[in-house]
Amino acid sequence: MYVSDCISVNERGHLTIGSYDTVELAKQFGTPAYIYDENEIRKNLREFKKSIDDNYGGNGLVVYASKAFCCKEMCRICEQEGTGIDVVSGGELYTALSVGFPTDKIVFHGNNKTCDELEMAVQNDVGRVIVDNVFELETLNEIAAKHGKTVGIMLRIKPGIDAHTHDFVKTGQIDSKFGFALETGEAMEGIKKALEMPHIKLKGLHCHIGSQIFDLDPFELAATVMLDLFKEVKEQTGVELEELNLGGGFGIKYLKSDRPRPYGDYMRKVSDVVNRYSAELGLKTPFILIEPGRSVVGAAGLTLYTVGAVKKIPDVRTYVSIDGGMGDNPRYALYQSHYELICANKASEKREATVTVAGKCCESGDLIQEWTHIQPVAPGDIIAVLSTGAYNYSMASNYNRIPRLPVIMVKDGKARVVVKRETYEQITECDV
Ligand code: LLP
Repeated sequence: MYVSDCISVNERGHLTIGSYDTVELAKQFGTPAYIYDENEIRKNLREFKKSIDDNYGGNGLVVYASKAFCCKEMCRICEQEGTGIDVVSGGELYTALSVGFPTDKIVFHGNNKTCDELEMAVQNDVGRVIVDNVFELETLNEIAAKHGKTVGIMLRIKPGIDAHTHDFVKTGQIDSKFGFALETGEAMEGIKKALEMPHIKLKGLHCHIGSQIFDLDPFELAATVMLDLFKEVKEQTGVELEELNLGGGFGIKYLKSDRPRPYGDYMRKVSDVVNRYSAELGLKTPFILIEPGRSVVGAAGLTLYTVGAVKKIPDVRTYVSIDGGMGDNPRYALYQSHYELICANKASEKREATVTVAGKCCESGDLIQEWTHIQPVAPGDIIAVLSTGAYNYSMASNYNRIPRLPVIMVKDGKARVVVKRETYEQITECDV
């Protein structure tokens, strides 16, 4: 009935997440707040893990892309579930390290890692640095030499695939700031260079073709393009690379009309291609890494807000103002992303009102959704925005010096704070 399996309505007509009454959560923890169903996150991680076991005989690693939602508790959950973590900054790396995450399962991304970040990766023996460009390759080799270490890396390749997604999140094509281009020969040059470097161990190659993708074809195509490159590397250098990282990007349901394929289907189809095509090219099936982010946490989270002013502008529209906004969810302002909204305390009523939900920032564009269908709402009602588990908390800002929201996790009938609500003191803490 809803976009996420963990959402339902109870006998009081209140929206629930993981069977927990969201109206009670709003009372207990205040609004605005992000709420996650921990079991749903674990279920998704297990599904991806199982598909590596089923389709690659366990010869692979699920690496959760923590840019989707990163905090200590999320790192602990990944550790307990036996997955790796993809970090993309010193801050994400620090978070993973701070809970003692096994460093051999950390994958470090980024198109412009600073020297400090590379130092941090080398000193902490991060398992795989995904090198984006030649400058970074040379810098990393120097840093590793200074520490007398050899660093495991993969090179990020642009496989030149248009995944038909939102322009802002399309990263596989040649006109992209990420990675080594195939067409220009830059990729092969980078590979040869890496193979010659004394403090670099080139483990394999990486690609990521975009985000919120429903189509399976671009993933299959990317796998074949990458394996062709493996073959070419073998022919030109005699080295058979061991690992292939296929990135993330699997779409989730934001609206009922969205039709993501079950992740098991994706994994089966892509693994068919990988296993068959490797054999055809005379290659061993490489160790496979995948980097799901949104698909692990997106539909496992929602945001609760309290309604303030309701402004009916005759013959124009109705603005419903909430106590959060673009500071905690910038995705409508940035990408015109769609969401399903429910009045949590009137969840069993009909969604008869058409309203624009506006945030509290001093900015006309601070909208969460326009012309959305929701139950008729009044001041004091609780609005839930569904599927906000990915790229909401992680993309939040302090615009207008509004404190960041807390993160609450529910599991087996218990709710707990995993990230505290930010205070005004914390907001001014770095001010001198
Ligand atoms: N691996 C790499 C190298 C990536 O760049 C990304 C996402 C992922 C994995 C995870 O992709 P996912 O499975 O979450 O689709 N802020 C945008 C999304 C940006 C995604 C950037 N890279 C949004 O809110 O839609």
